[in-house]
Amino acid sequence: MPYVTEANLTDLAVERWSDIPDPRLRQVMRAAIKHLHAFVREVEPTPAEWFAAIDWLTRTGQMCDAKRQEFILASDVMGVSMLVDAINNRLASGATPSTVEGPFHIPNSDEFADGQSMSKDAPGIPCVITGTVRDLDGKPVGGALLDLWQTDGEGLYEAQRDRDQYMRGVYHSNPDGTFTVRTVAPIGYTIPMDGPVGELMNRTNISHMRPAHIHFHVAAPGYKPVITHLFQKGDQYIETDVVFGVKEPLIVEFHKKGPGKAPNGETMSGPWYDVKYDFVLQKATSAQKAA
Ligand code: BEZ
Ligand code: FE
Repeated sequence: MPYVTEANLTDLAVERWSDIPDPRLRQVMRAAIKHLHAFVREVEPTPAEWFAAIDWLTRTGQMCDAKRQEFILASDVMGVSMLVDAINNRLASGATPSTVEGPFHIPNSDEFADGQSMSKDAPGIPCVITGTVRDLDGKPVGGALLDLWQTDGEGLYEAQRDRDQYMRGVYHSNPDGTFTVRTVAPIGYTIPMDGPVGELMNRTNISHMRPAHIHFHVAAPGYKPVITHLFQKGDQYIETDVVFGVKEPLIVEFHKKGPGKAPNGETMSGPWYDVKYDFVLQKATSAQKAA
């Protein structure tokens, strides 16, 4: 082996990290070393700067526990989560696109009947979402699972309130593919800013807000499940979503209505939002069916 110089160090390190029997791990480690070295060669950090980076990563790890994942947040704000999501969800045009799941999904939400409210006593403007679940040929998908989670009208998720079964619920589409969800409208909110990610964001001019959205996981046997959001059209943060989650087909009008009868049969005494959205699922490939 030749002795080390600044010029040959990257090649030496890549070569050493090629001695890995697992071909995928070999590919990953060779690329990681190549790109890390390129980063260091471009930035030329001082020892103090390199230590600051290691300290930031250390504190990011120390911030993580069962309820808080600061590394995922870091990946979200740098656009990496959405890139991984895009690479793994290259759907046919016309299928409802995916977005990041985010940290606030809680499994085993209560089930609600079509049109029943999942928002209980939560603050916010009533909101009724109607639509269908269909396949790419327009055929209705009955019995599809719609698992929703969102903030209340003050921008807080269940995890941020001392509540259980709050602002989340499971619905199923009817045999003709239709569904009706009764909730309250979410509002835009800030990502958690009290950790190393917030500390970094505060040294930038980047908005730390997410536009108002409702999360959906839509799934049916024989179809590729989709994890996505619906975003409120016109929200002030729609073009600057801190996690790059907004895709154009997911922006929907929240039509403001006056008192009167809503599609779930309820008589609204004040203003409410009427939202319509049709989810389009793509057939699962045989590999996905087996999974
Ligand atoms: C969310 O939408 O719940 C979310 C996504 C990424 C980071 C923080 C929050
Ligand atoms: Fe969210």
